[in-house]
Amino acid sequence: MREKVKEGYDEGDYEGDYRKGREVREKERELLDRLFGRVSSSRVLDLGCGTGLPFDRFLVEKDFDVTGVDISEKHVKMARENVPEADFIEGDFFERDFEENTFDAVVSFYAIFHIPRQEHPELFTQIRKWVKEDGAVLITLGPEEMDNHHGEIGGQEMLWSSYSPEKNIKLLEDAGFDIVTTYTEDYRDETHFWVLAEPSGQ
Ligand SMILES: C[S@@+](CC[C@H](N)C(=O)[O-])C[C@H]1O[C@@H](n2cnc3c(N)ncnc32)[C@H](O)[C@@H]1O
Repeated sequence: MREKVKEGYDEGDYEGDYRKGREVREKERELLDRLFGRVSSSRVLDLGCGTGLPFDRFLVEKDFDVTGVDISEKHVKMARENVPEADFIEGDFFERDFEENTFDAVVSFYAIFHIPRQEHPELFTQIRKWVKEDGAVLITLGPEEMDNHHGEIGGQEMLWSSYSPEKNIKLLEDAGFDIVTTYTEDYRDETHFWVLAEPSGQ
């Protein structure tokens, strides 16, 4: 799955379709504002950061200290040009091993559904480890059960994998999060499940 996803984003024209010139939309901004309201400091990790636009640009303009990780060599190169103030790491976010309690916030937009869903529980546990006790996370996940779902992005084959919203909530709670809010968004021909969560017991 990873090889196809990486190849799809490296070879495809992700920026060339409706995503070109994209800005943070009103609903995305509202959820980001809720995230900002829950974190006292400023270190943010962005998993599957893409080209850095629009989110990492938005975050650095809010004075966040941003670290982005992306598996696509092309996207990381673009991100470094688009947002030179941030740090970008090329690689698989599932294989990263950051120190515990490093980030005030962990975000991931439209990316986690590109790794096999069987790995999502372990990723959630990792994220829980990386985020500080008084931090928060904002992520998008798939809207329904799908495994090895084939489609197309930017003219290239693409793959998606996801559990249902109910199961994702349970997995996040099992990983040590309390759910602050969820939101299912239909936007153009896509549906995404947004989750704002914080470490349990805050
Ligand atoms: C739909 S794009 C979203 C990019 C960005 N978050 C945004 O909203 O513009 C998905 C991104 O996730 C990255 N990605 C997919 N699987 C990944 C993995 N296992 N590790 C790191 N990045 C990954 C892709 O290379 C791609 O840049």
